Amino acid sequence: MPERATACMQINNIILDNFRSYAHAETAFAPGVNVIYGENGRGKTNLLEAVYLNCGLGSWRASKKEELVRWGESVMSQQSRVEIGGMERALRMAVADGRRAWTRDGVRINPSETGFMCVLFEPGELELVQGSGAKRRRFMDNALFQLRPQYRALWREYASIIQKKTSALKQGGSYLELLPEYGMKIAVLGERIASYRRALVKKLAESADLVHREMSAGREKLQVRYKTVKNGSDADNVTALLKEYEQVEIAARRCLIGVHHDDMEIEIDGRAARAFASQGQARTASVALITALREVMMQDRGEYPVLILDDVFSELDEKRRGFLVDNAMGGQVLISSCEPRRMAGPANYIEVDSLLRTKG
Ligand SMILES: Nc1ncnc2c1ncn2[C@@H]1O[C@H](COP(=O)(O)OP(=O)(O)OP(=O)(O)O)[C@@H](O)[C@H]1O
Ligand SMILES: [Mg+2]
Repeated sequence: MPERATACMQINNIILDNFRSYAHAETAFAPGVNVIYGENGRGKTNLLEAVYLNCGLGSWRASKKEELVRWGESVMSQQSRVEIGGMERALRMAVADGRRAWTRDGVRINPSETGFMCVLFEPGELELVQGSGAKRRRFMDNALFQLRPQYRALWREYASIIQKKTSALKQGGSYLELLPEYGMKIAVLGERIASYRRALVKKLAESADLVHREMSAGREKLQVRYKTVKNGSDADNVTALLKEYEQVEIAARRCLIGVHHDDMEIEIDGRAARAFASQGQARTASVALITALREVMMQDRGEYPVLILDDVFSELDEKRRGFLVDNAMGGQVLISSCEPRRMAGPANYIEVDSLLRTKG
């Protein structure tokens, strides 16, 4: 195996069976830049989605696992050979009867144990700066799910309490007696979630500012901070807030206080980017955040994640494209494109139609 200049995770090969539009397909990926090209609706995003599944997060665009199964079939699988820490691993995910099952080197694992990391940049990420808080929460959470497997369990426990509390608020009556117990859990679990997110955002902020400055020729300062709703910065504070807003929550029949409303505050030159950034500035800031996340993952795990650029390459101008790819040099990058776009540097070109012709 040729030695790589930079430590990075890599996908070497993928085999799909009854995955979305693919009955059977297989392809190899090269280290460095891979351009997956083909006309609209030919399966570029489907292929990138299958690669992304290897981080064990589920798809960014399927709300149900069944959507991944080819229409008319009942079982799908994706098998990938990936390199993590210089070791090749076989990751396999199958969906049958609406249940997914993972194996690594043939041994059953939980999705949080694949060990593989990706940073995804798709059109939704262009909304990272100007879109709703849900986008930024998902950005933070997806990063933490990959970096801190224990964060997933914590997040699930929190989500289940919120679900139970919402149901109590909707049912009212004696169910409301459960509110103090739920409130205590929301405060304690929420503070743990917030501390993970705060630490991540602190690291992201330094790196993102450097990239943003470089892209704006030193003119603009990017500031990113973790923002808790109503400044509920510790458990006692959240408990007090829950008490204060109890009647409001009962009237609204919704959970209004907690980290599920927190956000990542982004400012450019001291002004809220969500309200004041121009389209171009917002794009620059999203490229900066994506690039920063790669750096944070590298610092944390000693290896760069795989960078997936789906449907965004043509949306970005030459300068931002150059930044993304130049910064990702040394790592592996998968790019979807309608034309076999010529990259400035060396690249591996995969024609998506040629995958459709592979027979099982
Ligand atoms: N479960 C499924 N079974 C069969 N086909 C599916 C399934 N899910 C999606 N498809 C089909 O897969 C096709 C390819 O979709 P995909 O999003 O990968 O295209 P694309 O090459 O990325 O196109 P674009 O350039 O427009 O982004 C779509 O036409 C869609 O109808
Ligand atoms: Mg697509």
